[in-house]
Amino acid sequence: MSAEGHRRLDSRDSASASRRWWDADADAYHDEHAEFLGVDTPGGEFVWCPEGLHEGDVHLLGDVAGRRVLEIGCGSAPCARWLAGQGASVVGLDLSMGMLSRGVAAMRRGGPRVPLVQANAEVLPFREAAFDLACSAFGAVPFVADSAAVMAEVARVLRPGGRWVFAVNHPMRWIFLDDPGERGLVATLSYFDRSPYVEYDDDGVPSYVEHHRTLGDRVREIVSAGLVLVDVIEPQWPEGFEREWGQWSPLRGELFPGTAIFVCEKPGVSAGHHP
Ligand SMILES: C[S@@+](CC[C@H](N)C(=O)[O-])C[C@H]1O[C@@H](n2cnc3c(N)ncnc32)[C@H](O)[C@@H]1O
Repeated sequence: MSAEGHRRLDSRDSASASRRWWDADADAYHDEHAEFLGVDTPGGEFVWCPEGLHEGDVHLLGDVAGRRVLEIGCGSAPCARWLAGQGASVVGLDLSMGMLSRGVAAMRRGGPRVPLVQANAEVLPFREAAFDLACSAFGAVPFVADSAAVMAEVARVLRPGGRWVFAVNHPMRWIFLDDPGERGLVATLSYFDRSPYVEYDDDGVPSYVEHHRTLGDRVREIVSAGLVLVDVIEPQWPEGFEREWGQWSPLRGELFPGTAIFVCEKPGVSAGHHP
C-alpha cells in the first residue's frame, strides 16, 4: 500500500479494488481466521462475528432445514457449508475467486457441498423469489459503494415472508482508528462522513475499500427496499474472551459494540411457512 484516504469511489472501482484485494489476501485471511471460522472443519461452521456468535446457538435464520438459502460474500463458505449440513439448500456468492477457491478446496476434503457463484452482490444473478432466506457474515455489504442496491437485490430474490440477516461493522466503529489498543479508543473521524476508506497501490490504483453507513442509513436502505427491520443485534464481548481480530479486542469490546447484525423480513407469508 502506498497511500490511504477518504475519497469517493463508485461501484465499479469499489468492486474492482475488492476483487483484487480479496484474491490477493485470501491466503493471509485464512492463515489468520480459518480456524476461528471453522473453514477447514468437515462440516464448516457459522460464526456471525469476531464476538463468536454461532448460528447454532442464536438461530437468527430460524429453522433452515429444507429452506433455499443464499449466502452473500460467502468467502470460503464455512457458513454455507454448515447450513447445508443442517439440511438447507444453499448457494454461496462471492466476488473473489481467491476466496471461493478456498471453499472448493475445503469441500474436496469432504463434508457438505454447496454451489458457489462468482458475482457482485449489487447485481444478483438470480430470479425473483428464488430464496427463502439470505444471510451474510461481513460479506460484501461493508465493501460495496451501493449497499442500497444490495438490499434491493436481496428483497427481489427473496420470496414474500423470507428473511435476510446480515452482520457488518457496527456503524459507530467508523469514528475510531482501526486499532485494537488504546489508540483505538479515541474518536478521530466524523460519524457523518460517508466518504469511503480507500487504500491505493504504488500506481495510485485503489487496492482496498470500505464504505461507511450510519445506523440511520442502514435502516433507511432496508426500509426503502421494502423490507421490515425486525431486530438489530449488538453482540457483547464475551467475558474472558481474549482473542483479538484486527480492530476487535477485549479492551474495545468492553466499552462499545464492534458488530451490528440486522434481521430483516420481506412482508408476506411468515418465514416459518413455505409459500
Ligand atoms: C470479511 S470477508 C467475509 C467472508 C466470509 N463471510 C467469512 O465470514 O469469512 C468479506 C467477503 O466479501 C466479499 N466481497 C467483497 N465485495 C463483494 C461484492 N461486491 N460482492 C460479493 N462479495 C464481495 C469478499 O470477496 C470477501 O470474501
